[in-house]
Amino acid sequence: MRTKLSFLSCVWIFLCGSCVGRFVVEKNNLRISSPKSMRGVYECAIGNFGVPKYGGTMIGTVVYPKSNQNGCTRFDTSLSSKPGTFPTFVLVDRGDCYFTLKAWNAQKGGAAAILVADDRVEPLITMDTPEEGNGATDDDYIEKISIPAALISKGLGDSMKKALSSGAMVNVNLDWREALPHPDERVEYELWTSSNDECGPKCDSEIQFLKSFKGAAQLLEQKGFTKFTPHYITWYCPEAFILSQQCKSQCINNGRYCAPDPELDFSRGYNGRDVVIQNLRQACFFRVANESGKPWQWWDYMTDFAIRCPMRENKYTEECSDSVIKSLGVDLKKVKDCIGDPRADADNSVLNAEQDAQIGKDSRGDVTILPTLVINNRQYRGKLSKGAVLKAICSGFQETTEPSICLTPDMETNECLENNGGCWQDKAANITACRDTFRGRVCECPIVQNVQFVGDGYTHCEASGTLRCAINNGGCWKGSQGGRTYSACIDNRTKGCKCPSGFRGDGVNSCEDVDECKEKLACQCPECECKNTWGSYDCKCSDGLFYNRENDMCIGKYAATVASGGIVWMVILILAAAGAGGYAFYKYRIRRYMDSEIRAIMAQYMPLDNQPEIPTQTRHDV
Ligand SMILES: *[C@@H]1O[C@H](CO)[C@@H](O)[C@H](O)[C@H]1NC(C)=O
Ligand SMILES: *[C@@H]1O[C@H](CO)[C@@H](O)[C@H](O)[C@H]1NC(C)=O
Ligand SMILES: *[C@@H]1O[C@H](CO)[C@@H](O)[C@H](O)[C@H]1NC(C)=O
Repeated sequence: MRTKLSFLSCVWIFLCGSCVGRFVVEKNNLRISSPKSMRGVYECAIGNFGVPKYGGTMIGTVVYPKSNQNGCTRFDTSLSSKPGTFPTFVLVDRGDCYFTLKAWNAQKGGAAAILVADDRVEPLITMDTPEEGNGATDDDYIEKISIPAALISKGLGDSMKKALSSGAMVNVNLDWREALPHPDERVEYELWTSSNDECGPKCDSEIQFLKSFKGAAQLLEQKGFTKFTPHYITWYCPEAFILSQQCKSQCINNGRYCAPDPELDFSRGYNGRDVVIQNLRQACFFRVANESGKPWQWWDYMTDFAIRCPMRENKYTEECSDSVIKSLGVDLKKVKDCIGDPRADADNSVLNAEQDAQIGKDSRGDVTILPTLVINNRQYRGKLSKGAVLKAICSGFQETTEPSICLTPDMETNECLENNGGCWQDKAANITACRDTFRGRVCECPIVQNVQFVGDGYTHCEASGTLRCAINNGGCWKGSQGGRTYSACIDNRTKGCKCPSGFRGDGVNSCEDVDECKEKLACQCPECECKNTWGSYDCKCSDGLFYNRENDMCIGKYAATVASGGIVWMVILILAAAGAGGYAFYKYRIRRYMDSEIRAIMAQYMPLDNQPEIPTQTRHDV
């Protein structure tokens, strides 16, 4: 009897919390690229489980199985895609079993994503996880669902099936890039939670999430990338029941703020009232920590409290909570002042603010489910796990403004592993243009050891800049033989490759030695004996003659000296003669010029002596 009563009371309290419920369905785009008749963008609703690729896209081919069309049992035939083909998006019908079970079967079958076609004409709904106690959580498979899940309308499902049955290939691009808005350079998010830790797997996984996400959350907050606020749902007791046992054990402040009994049984364990007080404590802890400029301490409090003060060990007490607060160095008195007196028939400003915040605004619906994560004022859909949530938060930043934590290896989608993501690569040098990010892969020419590669990233990248020859020899050919090395990377600055002299080829893949002897390029005189070497040639002259490489001829030692000496002397003589002649001419010109110039100046300063040049000159005649 008692249990029944408490259960009923719990139901009404829940109902009052959600009687004005407006639940917002979060959507993303589904773009059909083929068949032609279906081309276009459609909406689909993101499931509340699995891992949506927030910020990214995913391309696949739709498969509607011949049997097991509702996906409620294991798929006999593999849904894995063959190498070189698009991943499989399995299309199943709604109904007969939980959405989560369909998704789990699809994932086990090898599908990359699951599309669930609605079985009735209605606006899109959010596919949720089953509540505890429905027999669905016997197995913890829900936690293991890692493929994205989306609900599509009945109409779209029917069109896809029709196209598939006529033998067409249905290609779909799921796009989560705009699933979250990014209004500014800071992502604001809030987690609606409860201090109740006795609600089975849902509570356990929430605590697990807090523990695993703490590090990232604190880092993002400290660096100013995010602004996080925790929130707590409370319900109020209807006027007529304020004096009832139910309200007394589940509410504080005379029925103003209530929470359901953790075990749904008033007679044992902790009461709803204990939960409300602890929730208030956590909210107040955040206020005080926030005022002191360290809002991220909330994460420490939450995880420490979960470890040190669990309900099941009977440590869910004020005393235990106080010791955690003290250990974190937060002002306990301020926290207590904020909590006030739970027995007083008075409002509590913190909980009033929480109740106001519970009501949906703009694009966000009312918060009715715990836990609920809201990012940039949109309800988050998907699994509450570190990787999935971080991905969603990261996608709330504009591309290129995301913090580096978003680009760390755990956030990668591993799209570069297959076929190098379709990007350029130099396998030999282990250099790739594929960069894996939480948004999916990008093909971008890399920077390797400070050398910037330039190109389109897909078909071509090449080293550029002053050190380009230092990396993989600038992508050019290089060869060594007999202790000699030749390179086709001729210049550290200019682009391209060119075989060095003595070689011929494209300079990239190969440079072939030119056989100067065979090709009669050198050492062809009658006395010459030609021998090709790698990159050059040797030439020997017979009869004690010497080979002169510049002129490619054989000459005697003396002749060589005289010949070359004679030429040198001749040149020097000619130069000397030319120089002397030039000098004489120059001197003469200078003289003439100075003469006339001085005359002109003198004429200016001696206007009285206004005689023209001619008389002066003519004087000599006298
Ligand atoms: C936290 O502190 C900031 C500034 O110090 C303030 O703007 C914000 O409203 C505070 N948040 C809460 C929930 O008190
Ligand atoms: C290529 O480079 C990556 C990192 O730059 C390294 O992890 C990998 O082991 C390298 N592979 C080979 C074959 O050298
Ligand atoms: C390019 O510069 C590096 C470093 O200054 C030098 O070691 C290398 O020999 C240069 N290569 C060529 C082809 O000039």
